[in-house]
Amino acid sequence: MEIIIQSDPQSASQVGARIIAGLIKKKPDAVLGLATGSTPVLLYRELIRMHREEALDFGRVTVFNLDEYIGLSPEHSASYRHFMYENLFRHVNLNPERTFIPDGMAKDIPRFCLRYEAQIRQAGGMDLQVLGIGTDGHIGFNEPSSSLASRTRIKTLTAETLADNARFFDCPENQPRHVITMGVGTIMEASRVLLLAFGEKKAAAVAEAAEGPVTAMHPASVLQFHPAATFLLDEAAAAGLKKHQYYRWVYDHKPDWQQS
Ligand code: F6R
Repeated sequence: MEIIIQSDPQSASQVGARIIAGLIKKKPDAVLGLATGSTPVLLYRELIRMHREEALDFGRVTVFNLDEYIGLSPEHSASYRHFMYENLFRHVNLNPERTFIPDGMAKDIPRFCLRYEAQIRQAGGMDLQVLGIGTDGHIGFNEPSSSLASRTRIKTLTAETLADNARFFDCPENQPRHVITMGVGTIMEASRVLLLAFGEKKAAAVAEAAEGPVTAMHPASVLQFHPAATFLLDEAAAAGLKKHQYYRWVYDHKPDWQQS
């Protein structure tokens, strides 16, 4: 696990965008797994800037989003389809036919989930998965006690996650409790994982994920088993890490022969 600590969310997001841009340049038909929420907004902004100013080409890229609320139409302002359209898709040259987001309005959701897994497989699997982290340690919407081998399926949000995300809804009655999410097993199959976390609210969850025991009660901790997981943190989110100084030194002195 590589832990990169930057002074602020902006610089950490720039590091993340450079990693993604490097992948797309090397592999123009790369398959990206994407996240929503507040955390990746600056990352997407930087990718948009690179598209406009540096001709970063998304024309052959395929994207799969992690999750979606059940019962929200793609037009709903809190749906993740809407979020992705506003924060990334409409600003870059992604082919709409290569943007996949779980369908929260699907009539037969278990069947939809099987198809989503099949679509990821058919695309060749994710080259890189972007993740945020919940204050309760969730990745995607795999809440504590999720199977560490789980696949795309329906999950029920915890009270903590509902409270954390209430800001996206005009009133609590409109906030769905159920979601479709890629499973932990699905996420773990991505060739590379970039987890972003910013702010002191995430410090405890980040410390548990990186330095605590691997447990289904803190799903992000399973990334300790991933062969290429990178945590991109600002100082506040890194504040609870025991080996904080060590991680900083390692990154600041990274030899050229080590890949980015
Ligand atoms: C979103 C997702 C979630 C969020 C997490 C953090 O697609 O999968 O795991 O990444 O809830 O959300 P923010 O970034 O809003 O703090």
